[in-house]
Amino acid sequence: YKLPPSYNEPNLHYRTASPEREKLVTALSKLREQLPISVPTVKNGKEIASKDEQHTLMPSEIATQFAKYSPATKQDVEAAIAAALEAKQSWAETSFHDRAAIFLRAADLVSNKYRYELMAATMLGQGKNAWQAEIDAAAELADFYRFNVGFAEEIYTRQPTLHAQGQAGKTDWRPLEGFVYAVSPFNFTAIGGNLISGPALMGNVVLWKPSPGNIYSSYLVHKILLEAGLPPGVIQLVNGDAEMITDVVYEHREFAALNFTGSSDVFRELYARAGEGVRTKKYRDYPRMVAETSGKNFHIVHNTADIPNAVKHTIRASFEYAGQKCSACSRIYIPESRAEEFWKEMKDSLSPVKVGAPEDFSSFTGPVINDKAFKKITTAIDSANKDSQLEKIVGGTYDGSKGLFIEPTIYSAKTLDHPLFDQELFGPVLVAYVYPDAEYDALLEKIDTQGGGLALTGAIFASDQKVIRKTEDRLRYAAGNFYTNCKTTGAVIGQQSFGGARGSGTNDKAGSAGMLMRFVAPRTLKEEY
Ligand code: SER
Repeated sequence: YKLPPSYNEPNLHYRTASPEREKLVTALSKLREQLPISVPTVKNGKEIASKDEQHTLMPSEIATQFAKYSPATKQDVEAAIAAALEAKQSWAETSFHDRAAIFLRAADLVSNKYRYELMAATMLGQGKNAWQAEIDAAAELADFYRFNVGFAEEIYTRQPTLHAQGQAGKTDWRPLEGFVYAVSPFNFTAIGGNLISGPALMGNVVLWKPSPGNIYSSYLVHKILLEAGLPPGVIQLVNGDAEMITDVVYEHREFAALNFTGSSDVFRELYARAGEGVRTKKYRDYPRMVAETSGKNFHIVHNTADIPNAVKHTIRASFEYAGQKCSACSRIYIPESRAEEFWKEMKDSLSPVKVGAPEDFSSFTGPVINDKAFKKITTAIDSANKDSQLEKIVGGTYDGSKGLFIEPTIYSAKTLDHPLFDQELFGPVLVAYVYPDAEYDALLEKIDTQGGGLALTGAIFASDQKVIRKTEDRLRYAAGNFYTNCKTTGAVIGQQSFGGARGSGTNDKAGSAGMLMRFVAPRTLKEEY
């Protein structure tokens, strides 16, 4: 039978004095009272109190410890893999409808029971404001669970349509042999949920290593799946030293796939290392490499653009969540004839924009995730402030004394060859180039080669349809997600599948059947009678 169609989780808005606001504020204070929150270790579904050897800090208030946890030992990781492999056969034999029911139930638990807890964890732990937490830890997480069920159904119903006389055949959509290694980033609570649930829905078992930056929200994601009925062995969550965990995984013969979201540099290492194992025949299969990685994403403003719209979208794409979405816009190209108007609109619109703590509902954007990120971004700002090739338009200041806050910053470069057009900072820093209107075609050629070899998202702001089509054609490979008259961020599951190629990943598109296809090993069956 056919499952009901997938749908997007309706967004809540947390307006002043609304019941939603009240519930969120209660969840935030409840979490605050527990800080630093002790994140239990989960061993094969059983919670064990953490010994709290390690901790993370709250990005908006660095004097406050946020989470404490016990890092896994090498033996813990080995045991987690063994337990996952033990759970494999019975999970693979569980019918698709029974597996799907677990994820649909998890989506409802996210929506109804855990929404506020997940959001509070994402706001205090990852520094997101209420809206950013809503579209991530509530909506996108539930959307991934619901839509993946629909995509999986699409795959399972793909069968041969022609049979010769005296023959029958079918496709057996087997899970991979072995286990999947999922490595997820701090910036979206939902991404971890997708990296583990996609493969698991297809009958695979998973070892999951989330970032320390969202250790508590990842724990909640896992807890919800267990409450929804996921057998304890299927997804094994391990925290701790990434290199050690990766070493254990990469030594294992049953390592079947990597499902990674994070930086391109780390993925390149992981990709190359898997190749070594393949060369030495360490693995039974060729491990699948699936990744969504860095971006140096762009907005192009054409001289036919609606400037207020382009400015509004640029502010959102570049500065929401302090520029820490892989889809964030960090380079922009503005036509000479509209530059004055663009900069005036930008300065006027940015002046009331507030950088502040997530619990302050008037904050437009918040802190960056940790000290390392703060140092990297502010070092780049310090050098940009002294760079004669850059003119500062706004920002260029920061204050890390209480929380890791950086002002939205824009530089206009005198040359199109400035290194900032290639360097991903993963922070609220935008570099602009004002181009002569007549050189639009040459500009497109250049844009295609900039961005440090990355090709995740891009956008064109224009009203001339011919220009829009030309730009789409010319930049066919410059972005995996390309938008017209709207920002580079905010793909919605079921509406825009998401992912980039070139240096930005394997372009398997989160939120699509294509992604789930990477976690099946189809078998073709033919029978003559
Ligand atoms: N999918 C997110 C976006 O489109 C980024 O991971 O903004």
